[in-house]
Amino acid sequence: MAHKVAVLGTGKIGEALLSGMIRGGWAPADLLVTARRPERAEELRTRHGVAAVSNAEAAKTADTLILTVKPQDMDSLLRELAAHLPADRLVISGAAGIPTAFFEDRLAAGTPVVRVMTNTPALVDEAMSVISAGSHATEAHLAHAEEIFNGVGKTLRVPESQQDAATALSGSGPAYFYFLVEAMTDAGILLGLPRDKAHDLIVQAAIGAAVMLRDSGEHPVKLRENVTSPAGTTINAIRELEKHGVRAALIAALEAARDRSRELASGT
Ligand SMILES: NC(=O)c1ccc[n+]([C@@H]2O[C@H](COP(=O)([O-])OP(=O)(O)OC[C@H]3O[C@@H](n4cnc5c(N)ncnc54)[C@H](OP(=O)(O)O)[C@@H]3O)[C@@H](O)[C@H]2O)c1
Repeated sequence: MAHKVAVLGTGKIGEALLSGMIRGGWAPADLLVTARRPERAEELRTRHGVAAVSNAEAAKTADTLILTVKPQDMDSLLRELAAHLPADRLVISGAAGIPTAFFEDRLAAGTPVVRVMTNTPALVDEAMSVISAGSHATEAHLAHAEEIFNGVGKTLRVPESQQDAATALSGSGPAYFYFLVEAMTDAGILLGLPRDKAHDLIVQAAIGAAVMLRDSGEHPVKLRENVTSPAGTTINAIRELEKHGVRAALIAALEAARDRSRELASGT
C-alpha cells in the first residue's frame, strides 16, 4: 500500500490542508479526497489533480485519514467508516471540540487518533494548529500530523486537557482581532477618516504589530512602552482602555469561549 493520505469531507479547511500539502511537495497521486456532493468531488479533482473516492474506499486504501467534516456530521461519518477501517490506520480529526475518546469509542480497538484544532488563517498558510494525542497515538503519529498541518502554518502540541483553552485562544482567536479592527475602523470614522482609509491604517497597524510580536523577541509590554511616550497620545488612549475594563473583558471573553468549548465537547 502506498503512503496515502485521505481528506474526508473536503470543505474549506479540508481543501486548505490539501493545497498546503501539495504545495509542500506531496504528490497528488498519494492523496485522496472524499466529498458528499459529486460536483464538489469533481471540483476537487480538477483543481488539485487528486482522486475523489467514497468514504469506504478511503478507509480501505489510505493509511492516514484526516476527518474534516463539521462536528455534527462526525458520528454518521464514523458509522460509515468503522466497518472498513483497520485498527492500524491513523485517524486525524480536524473537528472542533470533539474529544479523541469519541473516535476511539466508535472505531476498532487500538486505532490511533490525533486531534487537531486549527484556525481559519489555514486558508492563507498562517494557521495555528493545536495537536493532541489520543490514547493509542505514538510520537510517530504526532510527528506525521505535524508534518501535514505545518503545510498551512504553525503547529503546537498540547495535552488534550488543554484543547478547550487553546480553542478559546487560537481557534476563535482571529475573530477577536477582526472585532478589534471593526471597532477601531468605526473610531477612525468618528475621527473624520473615510472608512477605506481607516480600514487600511488599522489593518497595516495590525500586520506591523503582529510581525513585531513574532520577530522582535520582545515582550508585548516592552513593545507597547516603546510607543508610549510621557504625556503623549498613546498613554491617553491606554488610560481609556483600562478605565473601560478592556483587559478584564478580554479575560472574561476567553474564559466564556473556553467554557463553551467544554460544553460542546461534552455534547451539550
Ligand atoms: N472554518 C473554521 O473556522 C474552522 C476552524 C477550525 C476548525 N474547523 C473544523 O474543521 C471542520 C470543517 O470545517 P469547514 O469550515 O471546512 O466546513 P465545511 O466547509 O462545511 O466542510 C465540511 C465538508 O464535509 C462534507 N461532508 C459532510 N459529511 C460528509 C460525509 N459523510 N462524507 C463526505 N463529505 C462530507 C461537507 O459537504 P457539503 O458541502 O455537502 O456540506 C463539506 O464539504 C469542522 O469540523 C470544524 O469544526 C473549522
